[in-house]
Amino acid sequence: MAADWDAGGVVREICIGWEEASEAEVVELRFLGGLHRLVLTGQAPELAPYYRNLGGTRPPTDAWKAALGVVAAYAARLHEDLAIVPQTNEVGRTALLVLALYRAAAALGRQRIRLLEVGASAGLNLRVDRYRITSGQWAWGPVNSPVHIDGDIGVPIEPVPVEIVTRRGCDLNPIDPSTEQGRLRLRSFVWPDNVQRYRRLEAALYVAARVPVIVDQSEATPWLLKRLADPVDDDVVTVVWHSVVWQYLAVAERQAAEKVIEAAAMRVPVVHAQMEPIDLTRIGRTLLTVTTYHGGVSRTVTIGESHPHGLPIRWFGSL
Ligand SMILES: C[S@@+](CC[C@H](N)C(=O)[O-])C[C@H]1O[C@@H](n2cnc3c(N)ncnc32)[C@H](O)[C@@H]1O
Repeated sequence: MAADWDAGGVVREICIGWEEASEAEVVELRFLGGLHRLVLTGQAPELAPYYRNLGGTRPPTDAWKAALGVVAAYAARLHEDLAIVPQTNEVGRTALLVLALYRAAAALGRQRIRLLEVGASAGLNLRVDRYRITSGQWAWGPVNSPVHIDGDIGVPIEPVPVEIVTRRGCDLNPIDPSTEQGRLRLRSFVWPDNVQRYRRLEAALYVAARVPVIVDQSEATPWLLKRLADPVDDDVVTVVWHSVVWQYLAVAERQAAEKVIEAAAMRVPVVHAQMEPIDLTRIGRTLLTVTTYHGGVSRTVTIGESHPHGLPIRWFGSL
């Protein structure tokens, strides 16, 4: 692609108007997402043999030759699709996130959970109790779930039973997994050589079709204000969680959201679980940090860390 750009070829033509885009706008990923959608929808059969997620086995060495023909034939579409911001929903992260539910139950003595997710994307991780997560002797979720994530924590955890009684999410741009367009969007941003992630996503989409979840279109703070004011039973603990989202919020917005959570904690038991990169300015190791609020006192514990896509995870040994 870079060589074609340098030579003033069709890649440059497609990227007209994007020449000054910043690195953070990831124009190359937008481009490849668009190309992937052409393959996924059967419009580029000559490229499918190179896409491992679709069963392709051809080596990538001569893929560009095949891609160039597709790129030229669909130049206008690929240009239009550059407006689509890469967006994923990584179910692998639930292997670490689930520990936040245990922490909430252990610290606040309540096993019934109201789960609220900020930046939920398609809401796939809100269905965490429909996924099988295992690690050595320890297991969570239904045995027959099509989603099976082996966290390989390597240490036994003594989990308390928890039950998610309500769940709801918000996102600036929610993806509806019940639509073909929503599913296509999610699939297209899982790269073809990430076969395991792709299969996991497919399985999670199957679950999503059977377990409806509301993801409201909203910024974090106004949504939290509203949702945390909803009535809730005394024996329920509210878990607000987010994964790989905080970096997209301005510092002031993060602080405002945290204030809303703290204020709610004066009325009801609340836990704030953050699965976020150690350094919010770049992709790298991701930590799960959980703050529990109880009787006006807050306590923050870092429970574990993981690869940004969730696996492998490392548990730090306490809940
Ligand atoms: C990297 S994705 C992570 C999605 C999901 N949490 C996961 O772990 O798979 C970041 C998500 O945050 C959403 N987002 C970004 N800024 C936001 C904001 N200010 N309020 C709510 N959601 C936001 C994006 O639309 C996107 O769906």
